[in-house]
Amino acid sequence: MADVTIDIIKNGPLIVKGPVELKDSEGKAYPAQARMALCRCGASTEKPFCDGTHSKIGFQAAERAVPESAEG
Ligand code: FES
Repeated sequence: MADVTIDIIKNGPLIVKGPVELKDSEGKAYPAQARMALCRCGASTEKPFCDGTHSKIGFQAAERAVPESAEG
C-alpha cells in the first residue's frame, strides 16, 4: 500500500492521508497533518481545507476518473 492515499469523497473533499507537505502558491508550508480534507468545491472559507460548505451549497462532482481528462 502507498504511504500516501487520496480518497475522493462523494460530492465532498479530497481526503489526503500520509506524510505529505502542503504548500501555498508562494511555497509557504501549512502545518503538517497526518490527515487533511482538501476543498474540492471551491466554496470553503478555510481553503485549501474543507469546512463543510460543500454540503450547504449542494456541490455535486464527478466521482470517477474520466480517461479523456488525463493530462499527458
Ligand atoms: S469540499 Fe468541502 S467545503 Fe469545499
